[in-house]
Amino acid sequence: MTLPQQVTLVDVGPRDGLQNEPGLVALQDKLRLIDDLGAAGLRVIEAGSFVNPKWIPQMADSEAVFASLERRPGVRYSALTPNLKGFERALAAGADEVAVFGAASETFSQKNINCSIAESLQRFEPVMAAAQAAGLPVRGYVSCVLGCPYEGDIPPAAVLRVARTLLDMGCYEVSLGDTIGTGNAGSMRRLLQTLLADIPAAQLALHCHDTYGQALANILVGLQHGIATVDASVAGLGGCPYARGASGNVATEDVLYMLDGLGIATGVDLQALVAAGQRISAALGRPSGSRVARALGGDGENR
Ligand code: HMG
Ligand code: MG
Repeated sequence: MTLPQQVTLVDVGPRDGLQNEPGLVALQDKLRLIDDLGAAGLRVIEAGSFVNPKWIPQMADSEAVFASLERRPGVRYSALTPNLKGFERALAAGADEVAVFGAASETFSQKNINCSIAESLQRFEPVMAAAQAAGLPVRGYVSCVLGCPYEGDIPPAAVLRVARTLLDMGCYEVSLGDTIGTGNAGSMRRLLQTLLADIPAAQLALHCHDTYGQALANILVGLQHGIATVDASVAGLGGCPYARGASGNVATEDVLYMLDGLGIATGVDLQALVAAGQRISAALGRPSGSRVARALGGDGENR
């Protein structure tokens, strides 16, 4: 199978990673992380989220993050927006792009955003309209595409329904969230076979959490199916506050190491990325969750 020649890496660490920290991360550390990612060559950085701060206090300073980050030319700084209120906050804060987030599992939808799947899609309608009026691109997420912490297996047809609706509503791309990382190469292949019968690969992204250590294999299956946008989180930061046991996203360094080895262009520099991951890990007081970063050592040199 032919692989894409180029892949867009979306670093979701400042949002998906830091939203799951037990404590609050200092604004300066967030800004440093975002800047380090831009310096390493990331062109899409999910910098924050405009959700209810009572639910996710770690993201309560997203206005300050967007107000203070130093914009690098060519970098898109994006934010999660669950509803119109979130969108208005994101717009006022200067986000370049927003993301609505739904789920393929009813129970997860209730736990995560306090409404059914159908209600969530209704809530997204005014976000789509307002984003279109403001000229902001909207990404869609579907969580639990390969399993739900409450419902177990999720049929690919349920994922297709939500993904199709998000695209029909005007999302330019749907990111497929393996929220609890239970997917494997087999279930990913079955999911993609169903989705790609209806949706072009160019409109799909993969968002794999690495709880079961399957993320790289799952991403490789995605690449083999023509998917060329991959979400990851530097240093493997993160998890999901509404999915018990969900570990962080696959580490961006680990995905990049694989892509470099496959000769796939990303524009991201591994050494600089490792340094970015080491810096935020040091600020959080723990070792990097990236296997590649640990193997290379703190300075990115092989030891
Ligand atoms: P709700 O309680 O149903 O909302 O929350 P509501 O409309 O009834 O409002 C209740 C209160 O929330 C009100 O305040 C609103 O003003 C406030 P009060 O009057 O009680 O003081 N409120 C807001 N405040 C600030 N910004 C807003 C906002 N909206 C309402 N945008 C809501 C609905 C979705 C807002 C809530 O459930 C929420 O914030 N949930 C957080 C969900 C979240 O951030 N989850 C983690 C991200 S998703 C994820 O990690 C998965 C992903 O990575 C993909 C994957 O891995 O699968 C994307
Ligand atoms: Mg996630």
